[in-house]
Amino acid sequence: MLTCIGIGPGDPSHLTIAAKRRIENADVIAGFKSVLSFIDPYIGSATRVTPLTYKDQTERLKEVAAAHHAGKDCVVAFMGDIHFSGFQLLERVERACGHRVERLPGISAAQMLASRCNVCFDETSFVTFHRRGDLTLFLNHLVHVLQDRRHAIVVPRPWDFMPKEIAEYLIDRGISPDHPTEVWENLTGEEASWQGTLNDCRQDFSDMSLMLIRAMEPVPSQLNDI
Ligand SMILES: C[S@@+](CC[C@H](N)C(=O)[O-])C[C@H]1O[C@@H](n2cnc3c(N)ncnc32)[C@H](O)[C@@H]1O
Repeated sequence: MLTCIGIGPGDPSHLTIAAKRRIENADVIAGFKSVLSFIDPYIGSATRVTPLTYKDQTERLKEVAAAHHAGKDCVVAFMGDIHFSGFQLLERVERACGHRVERLPGISAAQMLASRCNVCFDETSFVTFHRRGDLTLFLNHLVHVLQDRRHAIVVPRPWDFMPKEIAEYLIDRGISPDHPTEVWENLTGEEASWQGTLNDCRQDFSDMSLMLIRAMEPVPSQLNDI
């Protein structure tokens, strides 16, 4: 069995009980080092740990797939939830295995951000630039999201498309520089937050940061119509 699990935004209190059980019982556990560091206390001494790097992930995942095909209980750990900014890794896991694998959702950093910033998912769109390949479709989508008066939760791409580059790009595309903007770092850990406008967003942030660009005039609540 091979399961891709979301480990939540970092603090172990946000690791689901189901994910913790899978980690504790795994024969093999793989993930990027930064992700594994969050779940280290739950990894058993007999578990084989396979750290991934961007360079060797394909090779390492083949080893994990071989263990899975040999009947071992394997886990690949993802930050947050698999379903937000995780599918490129999921696809690599499935390519290595040759079939669809089990998934166990986790609490996304996007959920933590929505909660900290009091934004409703119904009125928010999610865009990740933390991916390989052409960003054009995602860039156009973000412009449309803001033109449609929706909030945007954005994952920057370390290190060439971070919040300041995203803000600069949006302003160049005609998005108002007055959009209220927030950047949150290390959610559930040693959190830091910055608030300003798109125009003010010129500083550097860590690779553990998420950006919220609020709609200028959000679509009004439908409450009165009910
Ligand atoms: C590949 S994406 C994975 C997102 C993850 N699947 C999720 O649902 O939260 C990794 C990026 O998410 C953001 N991120 C993940 N956890 C975070 C946290 N605790 N605080 C702030 N940003 C976080 C950072 O931008 C990080 O580089």
